[in-house]
Amino acid sequence: MSVEVIPTGTVGAEVRGVDLAAVTGAAIDAIKQAWYRHDVLAFRNQRLTDDDLLAFSRHFGALDPPPNQGAGRKSPPGYPDVYVVSNVLDEQGEPIGALGDGEAAWHTDMSYAAEPPDASMLYSLEIPAIGGDTWFCGMKAALARMPRALVDRIAPLDIKHDGTYDSGGYLRKGLAASADPRTSVGTPHPIVIRHPMSGDRALYLGRRRNAYIMGLEVAESERLLDEIWSYVEAAVYVHKWALGDLVLWDNRTTMHRRDSFDPGARRVMHRTQIKGSGAPRRAAQ
Ligand code: SIN
Repeated sequence: MSVEVIPTGTVGAEVRGVDLAAVTGAAIDAIKQAWYRHDVLAFRNQRLTDDDLLAFSRHFGALDPPPNQGAGRKSPPGYPDVYVVSNVLDEQGEPIGALGDGEAAWHTDMSYAAEPPDASMLYSLEIPAIGGDTWFCGMKAALARMPRALVDRIAPLDIKHDGTYDSGGYLRKGLAASADPRTSVGTPHPIVIRHPMSGDRALYLGRRRNAYIMGLEVAESERLLDEIWSYVEAAVYVHKWALGDLVLWDNRTTMHRRDSFDPGARRVMHRTQIKGSGAPRRAAQ
């Protein structure tokens, strides 16, 4: 296979010339190098079974079980490491997947955990005619766009990442509602981190809802968070899905969000995620 990497802007690249169901060691190395550089990779025209998706995912590390979303942990039968994102209901009227048809707000996956997943991949099986685009923002570019004084101020600080609500705004199954970011479930992580492989610095924000900058009064934390979040769309790639697309992203250097779509349309995506290789590490100033 001859891997061709076409950047989609400051963040993201489309990778051509690769059949992910039969990818080889040399091609995997080339894909990883492109991924460290571009943070989001899109592969078009793939034909993957869940076994193919799992086999490709394992090249990036150990698999991480699906998150507990508002709909609970949704997997296809026999594939507990595959997570279904879908608005489709089964015969009993139960959702077969998570996140429904609404907008999903900017987030990075499971940042409320002590060791969040390094990577996630999403593969399209059924898509609506319009809507449901997935947006990615580059957190290296967001940090680079910030004034030096703001970077110096936030570099020693930690954000507590809330684990109460999923990105669709749904309360995670079995959890108690909370509007107090100081006491809700979650984990603090440094705001400015260093990527363990590329050495690049990036902002690490997680989700805006119930975020809290440790040690500040809540009002001051909210003000500073609003200022930080005003930089997140510095570099954006919008993925317009076609059937058979797979998108791989780095949770340490990007956030993503999803547009809403027609509730009468069907959207079925299968996702995997790769276990964190460690807690996000603070970048030295
Ligand atoms: C996700 O946030 O993992 C799902 C994004 C999407 O449905 O496009």
